[in-house]
Amino acid sequence: MIIDQLDQPLPGSLRRTPPGSAYTDPGVFAREQERIFETTWMCVVRSGDIPRAGDYKLVQVGSEQLIVSRNRRGQIRAFFNVCRHRGMRVCTEDAGSRRTFQCGYHAWTYDLDGRLMAAPNLTKMPDVDADEYALRAVSVREWIGYVWVCTADEPPSFEETVLGEVATRLGVVEPLDNYQIDELAVGARVGYEVKANWKLIVENFMECYHCATIHPELTEVIPEFADGWAAQTHVGRGAPFGDDIEGFTVDGSAGVAALPLIAPDQERNYYAITIRPNVFINMVPDHVIVHRMFPTSESSTYVECDWLFLPEVVEAGVDVTKSVELFDRVNRQDFDACEKTQPAMSSRVYRDGGALVPAEHHIELFHEWVEQMLAD
Ligand code: FES
Ligand SMILES: [Fe+2]
Repeated sequence: MIIDQLDQPLPGSLRRTPPGSAYTDPGVFAREQERIFETTWMCVVRSGDIPRAGDYKLVQVGSEQLIVSRNRRGQIRAFFNVCRHRGMRVCTEDAGSRRTFQCGYHAWTYDLDGRLMAAPNLTKMPDVDADEYALRAVSVREWIGYVWVCTADEPPSFEETVLGEVATRLGVVEPLDNYQIDELAVGARVGYEVKANWKLIVENFMECYHCATIHPELTEVIPEFADGWAAQTHVGRGAPFGDDIEGFTVDGSAGVAALPLIAPDQERNYYAITIRPNVFINMVPDHVIVHRMFPTSESSTYVECDWLFLPEVVEAGVDVTKSVELFDRVNRQDFDACEKTQPAMSSRVYRDGGALVPAEHHIELFHEWVEQMLAD
């Protein structure tokens, strides 16, 4: 349900959340890995983090570890990090640069397109088909300057799923273009190890009922958040800055140079989008904040957050501390709340779940989506 009117009184019923076991059961988590993270498009790496041929990063997608790399033609490729000989991890460092991918066990060697190019005694085994024993590739897309991968044999349409989610939130995809996210540079990056189930983090991001309680700095900058209504409850609507607020910074002081193409209605507004299952995007006039979430167990999630600014701002070393500090504090406040919720998910009191107030009813859409994905 999408709520269209801020001031309209709603029939005040509480709705149920999933039961506590949905957040604690390793069996549920295993099913989510298989049915959600290994079937959908996952945003994994900033393209600019692997700028040259042979640069790679390892990422965890569901139960699979992937190598995301760049080939000699400058194209992004992704492979399962599994040697086709006897299964050793081909890359064992989190990131690096390679001329080839050589396995450390028996030295099977793959080129940057994953093709088996050499192995001890390979010439004496003419029946071995080098293509058949290539590193197993994964579907890849680049969008907004990030690499998106899907480990499914037949990936869903990127346009319908990822871009469809943006259109559902903003009405159309085009407003996002104004921020030119693919052109921006990483001004700061923070990784957070959060001891909470990934769904608690998504739910938290979708609602602002908690804003008045735990986000004093954010509600100062965006006063309407103090009323508990999240920008995400309204299609296409941003949340305006307070009248005396100059920028999206920890103390409301002016930020840095604004992004050149943003529209007038984006000049003093905050927009937020959740792209299921693992991305949150926040857009403000002078920067964009992108969260990528990597669930690591039923009770832990790694979140990597990028603050993106104009390249000239980053190159000139302009001080972006006040911009970064605002959402870094918001993140820590949110994750702290999620971590203090997680242990109670296994309480008998939460066996049948909790409640959603009207300002949180749109979270039901997320719960329904998860349920659908897990259904037989
Ligand atoms: S397991 Fe990789 S070369 Fe043998
Ligand atoms: Fe929050």
